[in-house]
Formats: sequence, C-alpha cells, structure tokens
Amino acid sequence: MPKTTVIITGASRGIGFEIAKCFARLGHFTLYALSRNKNGLGRLASECAGLNKTSKLFPVLFDFESFLKEPAGFMKSLPGKPRNISVLINNAGCLINKPFDQVKIEEAVQMLRVNFLGPAMLIKEMLPYMGRVGSTHIVNIGSMGGFQGSSKYPGLSYYSASKAALANITECLSMELKDRRVFCNCLALGAVQTEMFMKAFPGYKAPVKPKEIAGFICDFALNGHKFMNGKIIPVALSNP
Ligand SMILES: NC(=O)c1ccc[n+]([C@@H]2O[C@H](COP(=O)([O-])OP(=O)(O)OC[C@H]3O[C@@H](n4cnc5c(N)ncnc54)[C@H](OP(=O)(O)O)[C@@H]3O)[C@@H](O)[C@H]2O)c1
Repeated sequence: MPKTTVIITGASRGIGFEIAKCFARLGHFTLYALSRNKNGLGRLASECAGLNKTSKLFPVLFDFESFLKEPAGFMKSLPGKPRNISVLINNAGCLINKPFDQVKIEEAVQMLRVNFLGPAMLIKEMLPYMGRVGSTHIVNIGSMGGFQGSSKYPGLSYYSASKAALANITECLSMELKDRRVFCNCLALGAVQTEMFMKAFPGYKAPVKPKEIAGFICDFALNGHKFMNGKIIPVALSNP
C-alpha cells in the first residue's frame, strides 16, 4: 500500500507530539514531525518506532523564525523528498501571557509569526506538493480565544488575535484553493492539559488530555475535508 504523507508542526511536545504518535500507530504513513527541539523530536521518534512498522517518521528541526527569513527551498531540504502531501497540520503555537500594555513589540511579532504568518507561508511553500495525488487537507489548529463571540481572558490578547487571523485565512484559502483539490479547515480548540495551557491558565486543570484530542484531530485530518471546507469548528467542552 502506498504511504500517505502527513506534515505536523509543533510535534516536540503537547498535542502535536500525540498527533504524530496517533498517525504512527495507524500505520502506512510517512510523517514529517517539525519543531525546534531536538530532544523532544528524538523522544517522539523512539516512541513511534515501536508502534507500527509500516509508518516512517522523519524528525525535522524547524523554527518559524528562520523559515520566514528564507521560506523558498524548504521543501527541497526535507529528507525523503516528498512528492505529494495529503495532510498538513499547522499545530505549532506560541503563547506569551501578559497584560496588553506590557507586551513588547518583539513578543507580539513572535506570536503573529508562529501562529499566523508562519503557517500561512508554510502552506504557500507546500502548495506545489498538494492535491497532486487525491486531495489534501490542511488543518489549522486555532483556539477558542480566537473564535468570534467566545469568552475572552486578560493576558491573551495577541495570542487570541493571531489565532483569529489563522481562522480567517482558513476561510479565505478554502475558496481560493478548492479547485486544486486542497481543502482547509480550522479547529478552534478549548482547554487541553499541556505546557501551553498551564502558561495561559496557571493553577487550572483542563478537562481534556493531549492524547484524547490528538485522536480526534487525527481522524478529522483524514476525513473532515470529505464533508466540510473553510469551517472554523469550536472543539471545546468548556470555555476555556
Ligand atoms: N493546550 C490548550 O489548551 C490549547 C487550547 C487552544 C489551542 N491550542 C493550540 O494547540 C496547538 C498545540 O498547543 P499545545 O498546547 O500542545 O502547546 P505546547 O505544548 O506549548 O507546544 C507548542 C508546540 O509549538 C512549537 N513551536 C513553538 N514555537 C515554535 C517556533 N518558533 N517554530 C517552530 N515550532 C514552534 C513547539 O515546539 P518547539 O518549542 O520544540 O519548537 C511545540 O512543539 C497550538 O497551536 C495551540 O495554540 C492549545
């Protein structure tokens, strides 16, 4: 059976780590796991190795900051030379929890780069490899903070606004790319127990574990685009 290529950003820990494991467990996937953290990716590779021999995982050191300086050529730098991408999960995220008037411009720019501009430029670079064999599903991982009408929390203004931008470009791209068999949806996640959640809501406990939400995201990435395109879907038990 030919392998399906899946790219996951932010795979060194938290939700992305568990998404990668979920695909590895299913089998018959070529997985590209992107992040800046060599140790986290190494741990992921060794945990995935024992799950299903028919999957192959390429850990890729990747920082949005350097990618955005020189996006062209990124695809050619990937090991294994992928020819077709079936799934891209824009999962990496950056949250700096600070009152609005204390956020430095570099911090605001960092959140916008990792949560919005980086994922958008990654899609641009990967487009020539999408929709070539069957369809492609881009899943942007948004947040309830960036979902219109949801409760808002102090300290999360730039983070929430950057996720709202990611949700909006999802709608735009779904129109622009559909004739190329490239479909795009955004999952606006609620609280999941990860390092990021602890930064956003210190002292609180989230009702969902990374492994649980990863199973949902994995299934959605493989099947959701058969039924919807350009949707921003709230995935939350509570808010946050
Ligand atoms: N947890 C929640 O309650 C919650 C709720 C709503 C939405 N989300 C969203 O879900 C996604 C996953 O979040 P999480 O909770 O698993 O967060 P996390 O544990 O903080 O993980 C974030 C991931 O993003 C990567 N990343 C951060 N900056 C990066 C950069 N400059 N370049 C490349 N990769 C970078 C990190 O990898 P390295 O540090 O190794 O590079 C890490 O793997 C995020 O988009 C987040 O906004 C989470």
